[in-house]
Amino acid sequence: MAAWYAFADLFLSRLDAEAAHGLALRALKTGLLPADRRADPPSLAVKVWGRTLPNPVGLAAGFDKNAEVPDALLDLGFGLVEIGSVTPRPQEGNPRPRLFRLPEDRGVINRMGFPGQGLEAARSRLATRPRRGFVGVNVGANKDSTDRAADYVACSAALAPYADYLVCNVSSPNTPGLRNLQGRAQLSDLLKRVQDAIAAKPVPLVVKIAPDATEDDLDDIVAVCRDLRMDGIIVGNTTLSRPASLRAARREEAGGLSGAPLTTLSTDVLRSAAKRVAGQFPLIGCGGIGRGADAYAKIRAGASLVQLYSAMVYEGPPLIRRIKDELAALLARDGFASVGEAVGADL
Ligand SMILES: Cc1cc2nc3c(=O)[nH]c(=O)nc-3n(C[C@H](O)[C@H](O)[C@H](O)COP(=O)(O)O)c2cc1C
Repeated sequence: MAAWYAFADLFLSRLDAEAAHGLALRALKTGLLPADRRADPPSLAVKVWGRTLPNPVGLAAGFDKNAEVPDALLDLGFGLVEIGSVTPRPQEGNPRPRLFRLPEDRGVINRMGFPGQGLEAARSRLATRPRRGFVGVNVGANKDSTDRAADYVACSAALAPYADYLVCNVSSPNTPGLRNLQGRAQLSDLLKRVQDAIAAKPVPLVVKIAPDATEDDLDDIVAVCRDLRMDGIIVGNTTLSRPASLRAARREEAGGLSGAPLTTLSTDVLRSAAKRVAGQFPLIGCGGIGRGADAYAKIRAGASLVQLYSAMVYEGPPLIRRIKDELAALLARDGFASVGEAVGADL
């Protein structure tokens, strides 16, 4: 851990987790966090959806829900940044506390429930930023919505013009019933409607699924995505499962578990999805990445891009460069000249 961040962390780790998140956002807004201007190792460059990204390491959705700091986050060294989940109308989310650190396990449990400023706030910020880097927009549904698919359609249509890719998040465990949208008929109907809504401004469209998906669920999800010629799948969101190995006092809090306890599960589900996708479209691996080796395992299991969030809670921005350096070293060790060569090596 870099010395400046170790110092900041002494303070942040004593704060309530959501208060620490608020401070991190404020530091990014005011330019307090140092940008990483170093060029990435050439082997990390990755081609996806007709674009070339400097590296495959992304920030997962949930950190910048309202598109307040995508550019400051890109400057920290991420190859891609995903904002959201954005819902059509502003909403409070669940009562606090709703975000818990599990330090002994290097995990996090959250039951945020999509708190956010709503579509219009995100749209006006995205519309006024200079278009640069690779910024994905993740969309969801309001808790009290009577037509959830219509929420995805509204957000996708309004935000597609400002997105380098769009994500339909049908896997948050914290909005009751949302995960039902992963079922075959519902998912197909939802994604068709979103595809129609963005037909005038086509942008890569991906779906984010739960790491709790069973083999049968994966059969359905991948079949729908292949039929509809979707552009990708993110595997995945937080898990409702609780591995027996968890030690932290907060392990029984309700919500989705992320971070180190999710690494193996999410990589296994990614690999199962990749076998079914058979290269038809790219996969994004997310869940428990805290080291270069975790990112590399996901790439070898079929991911073209990876994302992380929880490890940043413990390691802060210096983690990004460390993961990239470790990943470049692992590629070189195994004789891969590029990330692309390693994608799916274990399949
Ligand atoms: C506090 C918190 C909030 C999150 N909010 C969202 C969200 O709004 N939309 C979403 O698709 N995923 C959300 N996620 C899930 C992450 O994007 C990611 O899929 C998950 O945490 C696994 O990655 P990790 O182990 O690196 O954290 C959230 C995760 C956390 C910890």
